[in-house]
Amino acid sequence: MNPKPLHLESRCIHGGQRPDPTTGAVMPPIYTSSTFIQESPGVHKGFEYSRSHNVTRFALERCLANLESTGLTEEEDRTQGGFAFASGLAAIATCLELLDAGQTVMCMDDVYGGTNRLLQRVRQRSQGLKVVFVDMSDTAALERAAQACKPQMIWAETPTNPTLKVVDIDAVARVGRAHGAITVVDNTFASPILQRPLECGIDIVMHSTTKYLGGHSDVIGGCLVTSRRDLAEKLRFMQNAIGSVMGPFDAYLTLRGAKTLAIRMKQHCESAQKIAQWLTTQPAVKTVVYPGLASHPQHALAARQMRMNGVPAFGGMITIHLHGGIAESRKFLERVHLFALAESLGGVESLIEHPAIMTHASVPTAEREALGIMDSLVRLSVGIENTEDLIADLAQAFA
Ligand SMILES: Cc1ncc(COP(=O)(O)O)c(C=O)c1O
Repeated sequence: MNPKPLHLESRCIHGGQRPDPTTGAVMPPIYTSSTFIQESPGVHKGFEYSRSHNVTRFALERCLANLESTGLTEEEDRTQGGFAFASGLAAIATCLELLDAGQTVMCMDDVYGGTNRLLQRVRQRSQGLKVVFVDMSDTAALERAAQACKPQMIWAETPTNPTLKVVDIDAVARVGRAHGAITVVDNTFASPILQRPLECGIDIVMHSTTKYLGGHSDVIGGCLVTSRRDLAEKLRFMQNAIGSVMGPFDAYLTLRGAKTLAIRMKQHCESAQKIAQWLTTQPAVKTVVYPGLASHPQHALAARQMRMNGVPAFGGMITIHLHGGIAESRKFLERVHLFALAESLGGVESLIEHPAIMTHASVPTAEREALGIMDSLVRLSVGIENTEDLIADLAQAFA
């Protein structure tokens, strides 16, 4: 019998999981051992050293591979194309090692500040990478730039952090294929519940698992997931050779968080949609950027590519431009209570932040301003508290 494939809600809980063979434990134990006994030199149970092989990390990696639908079997790759790292940036840094010195990365212009910093301030110097930033939300610009710079890797992020631009993932895959470039999508903001880059033909999906996958703001981590066997082989080598692996405690926490991802995403999306609509009625707010609003420039594209169970769903992130400048933004941010003024996103609790001073301070000022990351811009990560309570908090801060 070939059972019907499970829905994503079930795969969050069961994907890549099986009871522990030693005890039957339903949840994977935290295997802390750094090393494993060998009967004779080179004769062992498939586990040698925990940087290379860790049962708890493998359980998370198989779960991530399952959630992103790599389609690889354990015979093709031990963790089916899923790889977990010590942070999102460690995952990005390892991914860039797929390139040779002097090669070209074409990168979305508005990306997480740390991605921009790693490319411009580290890898340009240490790896001689050529970095070309392009506004990929304009598909024609994406095609033109690829034609001009002939990239070996295309790095897209969608929706972007923090201006929530949306990139056509099908187009990135098509352009990548046409130029023989490895395509990567940072899927952190959407999560595998809303957006399916591998199914669109993207080569590698990256996540900061610190965000929605972990979901509780209590663990830092990152992952790379691929459906290409050749890339899985290279990433397995790189993960071990570079060594920035996720530890077993963190893997356990992330796996625990991922079990409720689908149900959390549902609430994040419903609440953010209501709050975004309410924000459009507030006199203190100049503009609201949310892919679920008809006013968003790529709303139609977002409705096509961000879906939960086939229904458009736009995630939990909202960006607003306030009237006024830094003084007005500061006053508003100091007055919120339920929204915590803090970096990061994607947790059960609502967070609010000022990208120009906080998460994107590492992006050079001129570039930041060109991207529209102004002093009036505030980013909200809508948690899963009661929506009315969240609106009441924002209302009292505006008042
Ligand atoms: C979209 C995106 N990608 C990557 C990262 C980096 O992840 P980490 O902070 O886990 O290193 C972040 C962190 O905020 C992010 O928002």
